[in-house]
Amino acid sequence: MLNENDKEWLDSVVLKIIDKMEWVSEKSANKIPYTTVNGEHDDHAINLIGRDDTGICWWTNGFWGGMMWLMYHETGKEHYREIANILEDKLDECVDNFYGLHHDVGFMWLPTSVTNYKITKNPKSRKRGLHMATLLAGRYNPAGEFIRAWNDGGEEDTRGWAIIDCMFNIPLLYWATEETNDPRFKLIAMKHADTVMKEFVRQDGSVNHIVEFDPFNGGVIKTHGGQGFENGSSWTRGQSWGLYGFLMSYKHTGKEEYLNTSKRIANYFIANIPEDGIIPVDFRQPKEPRWEDSTAAAIAACGFIEIAKQVPELEKDMYMKAAVKLLKTLDSKRCDWTTDCDCIVSNCTAAYHRKDHHFNIIYGDYYFMEAIFKLKGDDLYIW
Ligand code: GLY
Repeated sequence: MLNENDKEWLDSVVLKIIDKMEWVSEKSANKIPYTTVNGEHDDHAINLIGRDDTGICWWTNGFWGGMMWLMYHETGKEHYREIANILEDKLDECVDNFYGLHHDVGFMWLPTSVTNYKITKNPKSRKRGLHMATLLAGRYNPAGEFIRAWNDGGEEDTRGWAIIDCMFNIPLLYWATEETNDPRFKLIAMKHADTVMKEFVRQDGSVNHIVEFDPFNGGVIKTHGGQGFENGSSWTRGQSWGLYGFLMSYKHTGKEEYLNTSKRIANYFIANIPEDGIIPVDFRQPKEPRWEDSTAAAIAACGFIEIAKQVPELEKDMYMKAAVKLLKTLDSKRCDWTTDCDCIVSNCTAAYHRKDHHFNIIYGDYYFMEAIFKLKGDDLYIW
């Protein structure tokens, strides 16, 4: 499906990733990076802010481990496996902390322990994965049939809050059922996915970030704009979590409605990709300032490639073209292949209304790498 030029470009990007990861992995072998400070990876194993969830329990702490497993799969070099193991061991501290763990345990333990177990059959990693799946299942609210996203901590009462991002955590529940043959985990995941399909996905294929349910009786109370521009807008990373997330639910369950939902969100995303291929933080944000989020582009590209694998021949091209456009744009305009910066992907944004925009975020690198290896065709499937 890729033409000769695309293949040449792809080979060159793979080589650039291998070159960059070779030295960065050595340099950051003992860190758990989230972003960069003056070009150097920070370390989220160290708690600088002091909240339970800002140090070792920070939700992105699995991605560096995932990058190491992607590299191990790509190169076979033992060194990557060793670094992934260092990170995985450090995450054990989260069990003792507990209060800092939200629904993000899927983001954290799928690219680490579960991947380790799938590759090495390490029993300790299996136990870690099942432990975290059990915690995630415990967040299920049967009245509203949703998985609670965040714990108390801020000013808001979040007992009834579910967020679109959780579509990436529930594959941990599918894995737990596949591993143990106990259907409880998968049943909870599907109940949650069904609720999201009904209450988050709008008629036009755009999605809400946060839906607030009555935690005692169920039923929607209201929606929130969350990390996007405003309530009713269209936070691009949320669209990406949705389109790729529903595709994963389809892969694990075979439920056709999940594939159709994934395609609906993806089609909306594709229709909104700007001419220059640069993805804004929110598809409905004001024209200025032109805040961007490269992570949304990288995650969407992964989702498009996975959708292309599931649809009839006639439909594949649209998804593959969109993926290649996003990835080529990132490579040519938003990737740093030099030794000046420990991260690869620039111009990432965590949330529209935060003061900081356009910085490095580790999952920008993770999903860019995942997408490139997917395009190559022999990727390690982590979710
Ligand atoms: N899962 C939180 C985020 O995407 O920022």
